[in-house]
Amino acid sequence: MLQKPRGTRDFLPDEMEARRAVEWRMREVARTWGYREVCTPDFEDLELFTTRSGEGIIEEMYVFEDKGGRKLALRPEITAAVIRMYINEAKVAPKPLRWCYFADCFRYERPQKGRYRQFWQFGGELIGADTAIADAEVIILASTLLDATGVTYDLKIGHLSFMKNLLRDLDPLSRKKIMALLDKKDYDGLKTILCTMEKPDLADSLISLVACRDLSHASAIAGTVPQKERFGETLKALDAYGVQYSLNFGIARGLDYYTGMVFEGFAQNLGAENQILGGGTYRLAHLFGGDDVASCGFAIGFDRVMVSLGAIPAKKDIIVAVACTGEGRRYALEVSRAFREAGIRTEMDIMERGLGAQLAHASKSADFVVIIGQREAESECLSLKNLKTGEQKTVDLPAALTEVCSFGAR
Ligand code: HAM
Repeated sequence: MLQKPRGTRDFLPDEMEARRAVEWRMREVARTWGYREVCTPDFEDLELFTTRSGEGIIEEMYVFEDKGGRKLALRPEITAAVIRMYINEAKVAPKPLRWCYFADCFRYERPQKGRYRQFWQFGGELIGADTAIADAEVIILASTLLDATGVTYDLKIGHLSFMKNLLRDLDPLSRKKIMALLDKKDYDGLKTILCTMEKPDLADSLISLVACRDLSHASAIAGTVPQKERFGETLKALDAYGVQYSLNFGIARGLDYYTGMVFEGFAQNLGAENQILGGGTYRLAHLFGGDDVASCGFAIGFDRVMVSLGAIPAKKDIIVAVACTGEGRRYALEVSRAFREAGIRTEMDIMERGLGAQLAHASKSADFVVIIGQREAESECLSLKNLKTGEQKTVDLPAALTEVCSFGAR
């Protein structure tokens, strides 16, 4: 028997309904913030993602060559593709651009709960606004979206400039290596590498910076950074909006394109794969042949949010089964249409089974059964049975609709 590829999942209707319900809550939040949905291709030129994604992501990419010999990759994330689209399609559009997406990404990772090879992100990108309040807007939107899902999480905000200032004398490759170790909190690895770089004294400052939860203290450890003031303004806006967060100057982010403010969210009830949000300010457009536009964005790991929420009982539709004899079929079609047009989930018999078998099936799957035989078809009435109470009555179509709707149609 053929199986799905490792790290992918099938979603049955109950799970899809639960996912869509959460997705729509997020879409509604994005709409009220003016973030309009965009969509980019599932695959792009490989170069788009190798330019500035960072080694980790490049190693995990699904790369292939098409029949024309082009090197392509399944998107491991959406940001680079959105900026490529901005340059191709919307460079001259009035700024800022507020865009959002809900799309699948592909990373060849070792699968486990909350870590998949195909997963979905709900993200937002704010393009062309280079202010403290723009950075705050993106963080507030991300946290409002998470709040709308019902997940409980810790929001951590940092700024790369402090760490970069401590590492300013190192070459870019060494800096990257150190930031990756700090991101993983691998302090032994950090000390070893700093010794080989003949900078052992940096270890204490870096470890203190990672532990620091206060902006002034971070400056005291890392020295003066010009971006401190703007970052402080962003934090003031978050405080004014009532956002709950903690500062963390150890956030290094796995992707290479971030330039300053960075943030991450962690679900409180998840274990190893608990990071449900990542984002920050970045500049990518100039690398893809566009203008050097400031951007800020985030992506929420939708599948991890769903794992964190657990099994949500799906809002159950009222289901009406329409059972009929051959003579009643024509009228049954008409009745089914009227129920559907009233917004009621209606499933008419299509198996051409006898009435008894139809009723037995309905009792397993439906809340109400409408029975239409020759007598009902001729008199344009129907038998309506409430399968929960067993109550059955003969009524006309409007009365049947009123009765079923009173139990709650969508
Ligand atoms: P990222 O942190 O690589 O950032 O991914 C965002 C979120 O996607 C993660 O926090 C995590 O919840 C989820 N995620 C990542 N890998 C997996 C996986 N294998 N299985 C399930 N969920 C996963 C980005 O992708 C950036 N593009 C975010 C961004 C947008 N920055 C600026 N704009």
